[in-house]
Amino acid sequence: MSAQIIDGKEIAAQVHEEVRLAVAKMKETHNYTPGLATVLVGEDTASATYVRMKRKACEELGIRSIGREIPANISQAELMALVTELNADPAVNGILVQLPLPRHLNEEAILNAIALEKDVDGFHPVNIGRLAMKGRDPLFIPCTPYGVMVLLEKSGVKVSGADAVIVGRSNIVGLPVAMLLQKANATVTICHSRTRDLAGHIRQADILIAAIGQAEMITGDMIKPGATVIDVGTNRKDDPSRKRGYRLVGDVDFESAKEVAGAITPVPGGVGPMTIAMLMKNTYHAAELALKI
Ligand code: GUN
Repeated sequence: MSAQIIDGKEIAAQVHEEVRLAVAKMKETHNYTPGLATVLVGEDTASATYVRMKRKACEELGIRSIGREIPANISQAELMALVTELNADPAVNGILVQLPLPRHLNEEAILNAIALEKDVDGFHPVNIGRLAMKGRDPLFIPCTPYGVMVLLEKSGVKVSGADAVIVGRSNIVGLPVAMLLQKANATVTICHSRTRDLAGHIRQADILIAAIGQAEMITGDMIKPGATVIDVGTNRKDDPSRKRGYRLVGDVDFESAKEVAGAITPVPGGVGPMTIAMLMKNTYHAAELALKI
């Protein structure tokens, strides 16, 4: 039997609509417009595309978008000064520094410098620390992991008590998604490049989160029948039949996995659209914090 396809585009559209209405209401009630500053350093085409999509979403939802595009050779001190300026700017509720940064810049120091109440990416160490700790909550949940949790919730997947396996331990996805699933009472296993029996671990998963960045690495024969599969990967695969010469695929081999899984996200159209939706939600929340409502 073929799996239920979890439609991230549709669920993201619902979140967008909720935020659009909330922003309109905030304008009406408080005469206040939320603002998001995006900082793009250098010329990386993927990063530029992501930032453009984030800014477009702001426009569509009535959020003010403040875009800063900076040459790749900016110094650490100059970038720190920009973050300080945005921290102090009352028109800016959220600050997003698109990652990765050029290698000469100290990412940790930059993320540390973002004001906690403007950290809409949820990457500040205090937010990550709170996410990790029992009984504490961050001001902001990192957008992609947050999107994964919303997909599970809206698809009616029971997380409490489930065996969740995360493949990948990145700061942006693997680690925070593991912490969120643990907070939601799943039993969590994190697998990575040194895991000895990867397929054996994956086969135990009621909920599988693939965030490795390797095209179609996880195949249907590794998946427990009926499992929920959330594919965070976005990889280019050569495809001469396409005009641009490639197509996007996930970390999971969708064709074989959908025959075994109970529910699965497609790539594209699964987790991808959720990242921006949750960023919009976080930006609205940052404006609520600024207004103290
Ligand atoms: N690079 C890849 N994903 C993200 C994200 O969610 N936020 C930022 N700032 N950079 C990223």
